[in-house]
Amino acid sequence: MLDPSHPLSAGRTASARLVRAYQGVRQEVAPVWFMRQAGRSLPEYRELRVGTRMLDACLDPALASEITLQPVRRHGVDAGIFFSDIVIPLRLAGVDVDIVPGKGPVLGSPVRTADDVARLTETDPASLDASAFAPIVEAVALTIAELGETPLIGFAGAPFTLAAYLVEGGPSKDHIRARTLMHADPAAWAKLMAWTADVTGAFLRAQILAGASAAQLFDSWAGALSLGDYTEHVAPASTRALSHVRDLTYDVPVDDGMSETRNVPIVHFGVGTGELLKAMHEVGADVVGIDYRIPLDEASRRLGHVVPLQGNIDPAMLDAPWPVLEAHVADVLARGADAPAHVVNLGHGVPPETDPAVLTRLVEFIHSR
Ligand code: CP3
Repeated sequence: MLDPSHPLSAGRTASARLVRAYQGVRQEVAPVWFMRQAGRSLPEYRELRVGTRMLDACLDPALASEITLQPVRRHGVDAGIFFSDIVIPLRLAGVDVDIVPGKGPVLGSPVRTADDVARLTETDPASLDASAFAPIVEAVALTIAELGETPLIGFAGAPFTLAAYLVEGGPSKDHIRARTLMHADPAAWAKLMAWTADVTGAFLRAQILAGASAAQLFDSWAGALSLGDYTEHVAPASTRALSHVRDLTYDVPVDDGMSETRNVPIVHFGVGTGELLKAMHEVGADVVGIDYRIPLDEASRRLGHVVPLQGNIDPAMLDAPWPVLEAHVADVLARGADAPAHVVNLGHGVPPETDPAVLTRLVEFIHSR
């Protein structure tokens, strides 16, 4: 149960169109936000970040909060997404990880063998308590105080996507070392995945308890997996990660003095995961995020027409002439009508070179339909 002062329990965000759409109730005006809406596409972000390393910025509560708020103020989107990174809980668990500009997460020493896994997992995930997440908790508190009735979305990386960085030691194209380890040493792999699930689950829980009104689990690189490998070697760990937050509920007054218990909605997203959609829903998500490779009506069909969807404007269209982009977005909205509810987003993150004025215009267009 969430604290009575949480924005969902206190009623500030419980009726927000983002939250209700995630809960499967179609909204008259479609809610919209953008993955990577906070970041390099905004000049005010680039200015604030001068001289501060990415992970240091994430752990500076005032800075992380201000960066989270920037796109909400500028674009009028329906949610803020907490400014942080999927590797933050690894860093807080003592892993030597940094984010190299223009490249992504890089590990001091990759986790390649059973011995490496044993060493990594010596840190008990239970040691990641509220005090370990203090900068996160403080940043979320500062942010929700400013957001008012606009929900904050918390997020975390799913175990496979995090393990892909841990095993590879950095970004990779097909995550082949991670996929090898899963078969070469299934016991070490399972141990790695369970540890990662607990660490990332604790990060997600800290954000929700501190005031996030929804959460997204990013399994960005799950599209590299076959359905069989996903189901056997990955899905159980994603379920385990989400088990850290599935008890978080709140009561909402309904008719005649009755109340209804609702859970904090969870979105599950990955890139190139058309073959995995059903399995990704079944790990315990409420909403499935769809990338730009598969139309929303087809995604909805694969999910039995009963799952709220998020997506899936092709980021490549953002730099196309407005009439081309507008026609594409109208098509996305029309296909999204096949799902019980639809939250508009991109099929992956905002490219850094995007003209922010296009995003503002898109929000106006979607809200005016
Ligand atoms: O606005 C938002 O979406 C909120 C913040 C956010 C960041 N990372 C900030 C960030 C979120 C939700 C993430 C999640 C994340 N991080 C994912 C999953 C989402 C996805 O894109 O699939 C992944 C895979 C990572 C790992 C990571 N961190 C990558 C691949 C990169 C990009 C490297 C680069 O420079 O292009 C990062 C760095 C990062 N995380 C930046 C931001 C704003 C860029 C840092 C900078 O400004 O230099």
